[in-house]
Amino acid sequence: MAREERVGPVRQSVETARTQKRYDRQAALFDLMETPLELLAFNRLRRRLWSEVHGARVLEVGVGTGKNLPYHPDGARSVAIDLSPRMLRRAASRAQRLGRDVDLVLADAQHLPFRDDAFDSAADTFVFCFVPDPIAGLEEVRRVVRDEGQIHLVEHVRARNPVMGRLMDLANPIAVRLSGANINRDTVSNVAKAGIALDSVESRSLGVVKLIRGSVQPRPSAQEEREKLSQEKTEDVARG
Ligand SMILES: C[S@@+](CC[C@H](N)C(=O)[O-])C[C@H]1O[C@@H](n2cnc3c(N)ncnc32)[C@H](O)[C@@H]1O
Repeated sequence: MAREERVGPVRQSVETARTQKRYDRQAALFDLMETPLELLAFNRLRRRLWSEVHGARVLEVGVGTGKNLPYHPDGARSVAIDLSPRMLRRAASRAQRLGRDVDLVLADAQHLPFRDDAFDSAADTFVFCFVPDPIAGLEEVRRVVRDEGQIHLVEHVRARNPVMGRLMDLANPIAVRLSGANINRDTVSNVAKAGIALDSVESRSLGVVKLIRGSVQPRPSAQEEREKLSQEKTEDVARG
């Protein structure tokens, strides 16, 4: 059954504290508010994303009210984090109703309370447009997933279409104020900037929703870096 753990105190910037309060306020109505989007597209995307998540140890970032819990891989040790205690409480009730064994942890994606390489894979849906420092959050995800592990994301992003993209830039301050969501984030680039290898990106909903698959490639050791550098130097000398 679901176990709730409190890891704290969660270190927070002003924006992170604001997001936490916002989701604590929204928790009771969140599922109701999202029902139309869920029926139109989100539910299909969740199934799709989670059908590809494998491994014995799986992390979900920003579990919210637990809408992805039905799709967590059977038999895996699932850990799910969120910033909002009230969203987590809802996720705990859902896990109990589903009979789903998951460790629910109060934590900030930007400071994950897990050791390096703790998970075989990680996933999230619609989270990194809310995280104040998305690259720091994605770097944390990379850190806690083992080498060759998989990272699966479904995210709202800035449209590629220049007119639509510009409109999203203009509307972003209003969107942030109203919902907390940065609607013009380039999350695909942020994934790459965080050192996660991009394996594939699928576009949905006129390109403003992306299904991103990434993986953790082993970083070269200091010795390997030195050897590469020395080989490059030798090649330069040979070329004259
Ligand atoms: C739009 S909701 C999505 C919830 C869920 N993933 C879903 O698809 O229904 C965004 C969630 O991200 C969480 N969140 C936002 N910033 C976070 C952070 N820095 N660390 C952890 N969770 C965060 C919020 O509390 C909220 O539950």
